[in-house]
This record gives sequence, structure tokens and C-alpha cells, in this order.
Amino acid sequence: TISQQRLGRRTAAAASRKGQVVALVTYKVAVLGAAGGIGQPLSLLVKMSPLVSDLHLYDIANVKGVAADLSHCNTPAKVEAFTGKDELPAALKDVDLVIIPAGIPRKPGMSRDDLFNINAGIVRDLVDAVAQHAPKALIHIISNPVNSTVPIAAEVLKKRGVFDPARLFGVTTLDVVRANTFVAQQQKQRLIDVDVPVIGGHAGITILPLLSKVKPKTFFESEEIIDKLTTRIQNAGTEVVEAKAGAGSATLSMAYAAARFAESSLRALDGDPDVYECTYIASNLIPDLPFFASRVKLGRMGVEAVLPLEGLSEYEQRALEALKPELKNSIEKGIEFAKEKA
Ligand code: NAI
Repeated sequence: TISQQRLGRRTAAAASRKGQVVALVTYKVAVLGAAGGIGQPLSLLVKMSPLVSDLHLYDIANVKGVAADLSHCNTPAKVEAFTGKDELPAALKDVDLVIIPAGIPRKPGMSRDDLFNINAGIVRDLVDAVAQHAPKALIHIISNPVNSTVPIAAEVLKKRGVFDPARLFGVTTLDVVRANTFVAQQQKQRLIDVDVPVIGGHAGITILPLLSKVKPKTFFESEEIIDKLTTRIQNAGTEVVEAKAGAGSATLSMAYAAARFAESSLRALDGDPDVYECTYIASNLIPDLPFFASRVKLGRMGVEAVLPLEGLSEYEQRALEALKPELKNSIEKGIEFAKEKA
């Protein structure tokens, strides 16, 4: 019998061992801002995922060529282009995951908050369309300042009555990717083995790598080394902005990180019981901070559990206290914008 049910990969594998023929689950993904510096390599990486059946590329410009180009890769995902507001509803129809890298990037001398005025409106409008046309989709927000754009998205979803905190994510995976790289280099470890949780937010001192919780267990020689690594992870985005000298911010490493987060989310939707990522979400983990990046367990419904903050080092506790006012301010700025201008 051919089952039309959306079975998880594991269930499907078990059924196929019993001789049943089952349709494997695959997912529809939309990338909004797909023709940009992040959007293009991200779309390529998503096109390579065996979990994706349909890849919808949306942008206000130049997206037809990107889609034509990607559609020639002989991987299963079917690629379609959508341009302009009129085509946004079709781009979002029946989509399981929406990834949003639309917006302007930083130039030298700019903070992520300097992007607020332009990107806040872009995120508000795109998320409003998601609320109407794909209210059950997981939403991954890449557009900066993430500390404020995710609260904006939450307000917009609330206004439409479809906010589910388990399905809205600020993508902070690049902070984890950077932390893994820098710690492995410093410790002369194999990169692939190192995993550093990063919590807080996604700008400057709000980015808090938990170097006391590195896996495998890692001992740093002095607080000076911990401080240097922490500062480098916090300022890594600026390293790229300065090296690109006006041509934008991280795009390739960001695409890699966003693709990892997308794949993790799809694996979890598909029933993999062992998927953990750090991400900026609505939570009540820290009093007064309604949004906070935490390590979470992902499942079929999005966030399944938020891991508690336990056993922080003294250095990390101080850094946590120091980041609170800035993060609170960025959250409030986002919420105010959404209340006034949504
Ligand atoms: P980019 O300028 O190369 O691309 C942005 C794309 O968005 C362009 O193709 C543009 O046409 C499109 N766009 C603008 N308004 C749109 C709208 N209303 N609807 C659909 N598409 C729209 O910029 P890049 O380098 O790709 O960066 C994108 C965003 O990602 C920036 O806000 C940047 O700050 C952020 N970013 C986030 C990181 C993170 O870790 N979360 C890391 C690096 C960048």
C-alpha cells in the first residue's frame, strides 16, 4: 500500500523494512530576500537538502535569474521564482518553513541597530504576509537587528492572532559557528568536534558564548584568554564588515549557518528526536527579557523545550548582567515600532 500520510523519515524507514511502500516526507521552504548576498548562497544550500521538495524564492528584484540558475542543479527540490508584492501570497502558499534574509546589511562604522529604520518595516510587511498566507510555518528571521526584528515579528503575528512562540526564531547560528571555529583554533582541536553554546542576543555584548560549557569539556588557561575569545566572537561580524570595506556584511558564512539551522528545523519536523540549536526566541527564562537566545530542543512543533541556564561561570554571570539593559532596550524598541507602525 502506498501511504499518502506525511510520515516521519524514521517511521517511513520502519514501514519500508516491513515491505510497505511509503511516500517520504519532504518540505516546502520559502526564502524571502532570495536574490541578496545571503539569499543566493542560502538558496543553493537549501536546494541541496534531501528534505526539501519545493523551494520558493521571493525578492523584490533579480530573483528570476537566481531561480533559473538553481533549477538546473539535479537535486530534488523544485525551484520557483516570485517577484513583487502581488506574488508574495503564492510564494508562501503551503510553505512549512519561511527564511527571511531580506533587508540592507551593515557598512563599516555602522552598528546593527543603524539598520533598524529600513529593516524594521521590511520585516513587519513580510511577516504580516506570512501571518496571512502561511500561519503555521516556522519563521527564521535573519534580517538585522535581530534583537529587535524578532519582537517586531512577534507583535505582527499577535495582531493577526497567529503568534506561536514555538515557531518564531531569530537566527543566531552564525554566532555558534564562529564560536566553534575560534575555540577549536585556539585549543588546536578538530573543528568538527567542538560545540559552543551562545546565548543572549545577536549584537555586540548581547552575544554571550558560554565558554564554560564547551563540548567536549574544554579548559581555558586564564580569564584573559576567555575574555579575548568572547570579545572576538562578539565582534566577528565587524571583522567581516571591515574586510569587505563597504560591500556588505557576512553572506557566505551566514548562508552556511542559516542552512544548518534550516536543516536542523526540518530534521526535527521530520521526527528526529535529538535536535538542539541555539536561537533567539520569545521565552520567560530571564525576568524582564521577553526574548532571549537559548539552547532549545527542536521537535515536530518547533521549540519543544528551552534548556535552563545552569552553572554559569562568574565571568558569564557578569556578562549576562551587563547585556540585560541593551537587550531589553532593543526588544522594547521593536515592540514600540510594531505597536505604532503596524
Ligand atoms: P543584500 O542587500 O545583499 O540582500 C538583501 C536582499 O533583500 C536584496 O536582494 C533585496 O532586494 C531584498 N529585499 C529588500 N527588501 C525586500 C522586501 N521588502 N521583500 C523581499 N526582499 C527584499 O543583504 P545581505 O548581505 O543578504 O543581508 C541581509 C540581511 O541579513 C541584513 O539585514 C543583514 O544585516 C542580515 N544579516 C544577519 C546575520 C545574522 O547572523 N542574523 C548575519 C549577516 C547579515
